[in-house]
Amino acid sequence: MDIVTANGAALPALGFGTFRMPGEEVLKILPLALKVGFRHVDTAQIYGNEAEVGEVISGSGIAREDIFLTTKVWVDKFAHKDFIPSVDESLRKLKTDYVDLLLLHWPQSPVPLAEQIGALNEVRKAGKVRHIGVSNYNTALMGEAVALSDAPIVTNQIEYHPYLDQAKVLAAARSYGMSVTAYYAMANGKVPNEPLLAEIGARYGKTAAQVVLRWLIQQQGVVALSKTATESRLGENFAVFDFLLTGDEMAAISALARPDGRIVNPGHLAPQWD
Ligand SMILES: NC(=O)c1ccc[n+]([C@@H]2O[C@H](COP(=O)([O-])OP(=O)(O)OC[C@H]3O[C@@H](n4cnc5c(N)ncnc54)[C@H](OP(=O)(O)O)[C@@H]3O)[C@@H](O)[C@H]2O)c1
Repeated sequence: MDIVTANGAALPALGFGTFRMPGEEVLKILPLALKVGFRHVDTAQIYGNEAEVGEVISGSGIAREDIFLTTKVWVDKFAHKDFIPSVDESLRKLKTDYVDLLLLHWPQSPVPLAEQIGALNEVRKAGKVRHIGVSNYNTALMGEAVALSDAPIVTNQIEYHPYLDQAKVLAAARSYGMSVTAYYAMANGKVPNEPLLAEIGARYGKTAAQVVLRWLIQQQGVVALSKTATESRLGENFAVFDFLLTGDEMAAISALARPDGRIVNPGHLAPQWD
């Protein structure tokens, strides 16, 4: 597994996502994902499956320190009085005494950013989380978060796939020593049906999905998340470390970006995007 280093953190370049995965599905598919080789698991308080993620990881026989575990604090828990108990509750559900990475899930909140970042730092100092980060931040918010935080911010988890140009966020992240963690790599089903990606993949005996995961992790400082509830796709999505896209292929994939390429944009949660 390739590792992305960012501000002292070592993030496995490919993570297993659990959004829209009910607990029962987690119990079925996550053990198989770990068997295939995934060692980075992404969940969130709002996904409602932390307990099942914890059950699978704690029962997996894999040492806790060999799994990189991320969870995210939901926006209704950003006030300090709610934040700290919510992290304790996440740890209880996850059956562990620390997570590797704790993120603020979305930026829109009446709670001042300084309070949110203060709480992130507090749980880090207490040893409940190893690293801290943000999600769905624009470049201005990234700068504010970095300035407010004692501990380094290690990632901004954002929507990123070939149809959405994230060059500005990537450049900002690199300037702060941060990584970018890409979600929605499959662009809601568009990626597997994209002829250009299939054509590039055919050169390597790979699928369009594998090409996009490769395109993501081949970029400096980029971590990719991949979610599937389909057993046969686990091996497919993990087999992206044995080929290399050319510079021309990387550029051709990036050229699929278009102005209306963004898919995830909830008005009550999202910032003014760059
Ligand atoms: N921070 C945030 O706000 C945020 C937002 C969204 C997601 N995330 C995180 O990012 C993770 C990834 O995003 P995502 O869940 O949208 O997943 P994704 O990796 O983009 O793909 C999900 C969809 O693509 C299908 N798929 C997966 N592999 C495929 C393949 N090889 N060929 C064809 N179809 C394939 C899956 O179907 P099947 O499951 O039916 O196989 C699923 O419907 C999430 O699970 C979550 O952990 C974070």
